[in-house]
Amino acid sequence: MREGWLWRPLSRLIGDPSGADELWWTKREVFARLVSGPSIRDFADEMAATISTAVAEMAARGRDGRALDAGEEMARIVYRAITRVLIGNKITDEQADRLGAALRTTSASMRPRLMFPFVPNAVPFAGDRRFRRSVAGIDEMVFPIVDRARRRGPDGRDIVSRLLEARTSDGRGFTRQELRDGMVSLFVAGTETTTIAMTFLWTVLRLYPPGWMLPRKVVDDDVIGGAPVKAGGLIVMSPYLTNRLPELWDRPEEFAPSRHDPGAQQPAFSYLTFGGGPHACVGKPFFLAEVQLIIAAVLSTLHVTVLGAPSARPQLGLTLRPRERTMLRLIPRTATGGDGRVSGDG
Ligand code: HEM
Repeated sequence: MREGWLWRPLSRLIGDPSGADELWWTKREVFARLVSGPSIRDFADEMAATISTAVAEMAARGRDGRALDAGEEMARIVYRAITRVLIGNKITDEQADRLGAALRTTSASMRPRLMFPFVPNAVPFAGDRRFRRSVAGIDEMVFPIVDRARRRGPDGRDIVSRLLEARTSDGRGFTRQELRDGMVSLFVAGTETTTIAMTFLWTVLRLYPPGWMLPRKVVDDDVIGGAPVKAGGLIVMSPYLTNRLPELWDRPEEFAPSRHDPGAQQPAFSYLTFGGGPHACVGKPFFLAEVQLIIAAVLSTLHVTVLGAPSARPQLGLTLRPRERTMLRLIPRTATGGDGRVSGDG
């Protein structure tokens, strides 16, 4: 069950993450319908247009060969794309950028608490003030959207309208707070993961899965791989470790994209980057569409040079991210007549 003290720091941002109740089923259904399958075809054009604009703005910032921080730039593109598609015209580009910045700050300021999650929230901790300020900033943007939608009723395929329409099997709708928590949890799940994947580049997702720890509360006494686990206890699955197990992967540390070719044989649940079972990521199709559009928009217009050696040392937080910044230099393709390749200079 998705519960226990390791989830405590996150619950201050997104509400109850447990997923053991009716509300979670309803929310998961709404999310899954919104970010997978036919919906992706519906919003692909809009997403592509938003990404092209954001990439053009990045190119303008990088003109004259100025070095740009890959993490920050990818974050800006991803937040724009996700807010435009999920909130529609209920948010401006400028608000989307501010929401993105606040979400990124909450995640960074949560790091000390994640390292000591057993410390109760009531005990003051490093990063708390910054965290609270960013949550207040998020609420300032999200609650007005929720309130307006509650007054006017659902009016589109955006996340607020969809959550507002949704009913649990006993006929109950979402409260104001639950609508806010639903919106924020989809943003948290769908943005930082994609941003980091873009920074590490998606071809290394097995070795560097952004969601590196998946805590669970044990429901019944059991034995897992010879180790007894007790009901009520906490276990943590780590895709960062299991994706590298020599029992499951031949030469696990080696970068070999052909392992993921269609038809390649791997045991079930050996690749846990997107989780597995009832909580498995509903956003994977969204991520795949988004990441391809971003890469196409960037490489069709820009020649990208990675400055220095890209960071391979991971830093653990809510997500696993590169420890050092990755800096990029961008040159418009028209200026180079280049072929849009990514290259490194160190
Ligand atoms: C590189 C990109 C991504 C990675 C690596 C990733 C990874 C994961 C993982 C490991 C889980 C399972 C968590 C657990 O078992 O406790 C998860 C759940 C989830 N993901 Fe993703 N994700 C990505 C992108 C996205 C995107 C783009 C969205 C939405 C637009 C999204 C929405 C969700 C949601 C809503 C859940 C919770 C599902 C539930 O509780 O039933 N994810 N993700």
